[in-house]
Amino acid sequence: MLAIEVGSPVRKDPIVARPVVYSEEVVQAIAEVLKSGVLTAQHGRWVKAFESELASFLGVRHVLAVSNGTTALHTALKAVGVGPGDEVITTPFTFAASATAVLHANAVPIFADIDRETLNLDPASVEEKITDRTKAVVVVHLAGMPAEMDEFMKLAERYGVKIVEDTAQALGAEYRGRRVGSIGHISTFSFYATKHITSGEGGAVATDVAAYAERAKLIRAHGEVGKYNYELLGYNYRMTEMQGVLAYYQLKQWPEMQKRREAYVKVLLEELAPLEGDMLTVPRPRPYMKHSWHLVQILLAVEKLTKPRDYVVEALRAEGVGNVFVAYPVPLYKTPLFQRREGHGLGCPWSCPFYGRKVEYRPLPNAEWAAERVLSLLVMPNLTEQDAVDTAAAFKKVLTALRR
Ligand SMILES: Cc1ncc(COP(=O)(O)O)c(C=O)c1O
Repeated sequence: MLAIEVGSPVRKDPIVARPVVYSEEVVQAIAEVLKSGVLTAQHGRWVKAFESELASFLGVRHVLAVSNGTTALHTALKAVGVGPGDEVITTPFTFAASATAVLHANAVPIFADIDRETLNLDPASVEEKITDRTKAVVVVHLAGMPAEMDEFMKLAERYGVKIVEDTAQALGAEYRGRRVGSIGHISTFSFYATKHITSGEGGAVATDVAAYAERAKLIRAHGEVGKYNYELLGYNYRMTEMQGVLAYYQLKQWPEMQKRREAYVKVLLEELAPLEGDMLTVPRPRPYMKHSWHLVQILLAVEKLTKPRDYVVEALRAEGVGNVFVAYPVPLYKTPLFQRREGHGLGCPWSCPFYGRKVEYRPLPNAEWAAERVLSLLVMPNLTEQDAVDTAAAFKKVLTALRR
C-alpha cells in the first residue's frame, strides 16, 4: 500500500537534500571578517581570493563575483551590449531568470525549442529563430547537463551573435574536455543554497574578454569611475566578504562534494535500471560530455500511469523522498508574465518603439513534451548511497502501484 494511501513509507525519516557548508575553518574565517569590520569586497580579501580561485578552476582570465545568478545574467547581457530593440534567444525549459534577465536588460526574449535527449536548447531550433535583431543566445546547461557548445559557437561565428552560458546549474560540468562556463563569450554562475557551491546567495560572471570584464565591473558597482563620477547605468550587485568566505571554502571543498554527488547518482541509476525504458528514462550525457548532476531529471512514461505526474510526486514524497520536485512544470512562455507582456509597464520591452516588432510565443513541442513528464531529484553532497537505494525503491513501489 502506498504511503499516500495510508500504507507505511519506504523511509520513516524523509530524505532531505541540503548543502554541506559548516566547518570550524569557515566559522573561524567568518569570525575574523566580523572582528575586522571589513565586510565588503571593495576593501576585503575574500571575494577577491574567491574570484581568482574560480578563474583558475574555469581556466578563464576574468571572474567577477556578484550578488546572485540573476544579477550575474543581467550584468553579462549588458556587458556584451544587449539593450533596447535587441532579441535574445533562450530556452523556455529553465528557471525564470534565464529569460527575465533579458527583460531586465530591456531586450526581448525569444524562445527556441529543446532537444529531447539532453533537455537543453536545440541548436537547429535556435538557428531558425535568429533574426537581424538577435544580439545574444543564453545557453543554459540545465541540471548539470552540458549544452552543445560547438554548435552554438558555430552559430555565433555565422551570425555574429554573442553566446552567454548560464552555468547556474552546471559548475564543474565539461564539454569536450573543457569546463562549461569557459567556452562562450561570457558566462554566469549562481551560488544559491541548492547549487554545486553556495554562499547562501551569490553569483559570478566569467569571461576571457577584457572589455566585457571592464564593463561588467562598472555595471556591478553603480557605473562609477573615480569618486562619485558615473560613466554608465550601473547597479549595486556586489558580494559581501561573508559570502566571499563561504564561496571560497565551498570551491575548495568542491572535489569532495562532487565525488559524493556522483556516488549517489551512480547507485541511483543502477537501482532505477529495471524501470528504465519502460516506466521512465533518465537523459544521459553524450560521450564527449561530463554531467555535473545538479539534478537528476527523470522523464516519466505518463501514458502508462493511472494518475497524473503531480500525484506521482506527492506519492514519492509520502514515501520519504523529500528531494523530489518538478523542474519545470510549464515552459516559460506559458506563464502570465510572458502571456500578459506588461514587462516594465506599458508593455516594454515588447512594445518598445525601438523594437517595433510583434512577438508571438507559439508552443514549442519538445519543451511541452518535457514539461509534461519531467520529475527532478535535487542532488546534494549530504545524500548517501542508502538514500539512492531507498529513492529507487520508492520509485519502484509507486510506479508499479500506479501502472495502468
Ligand atoms: C538556470 C538558472 N539560471 C539562473 C538562476 C538564477 O540564480 P539566482 O537564484 O542565484 O539568482 C538560476 C537559479 O536559481 C537557475 O537555475
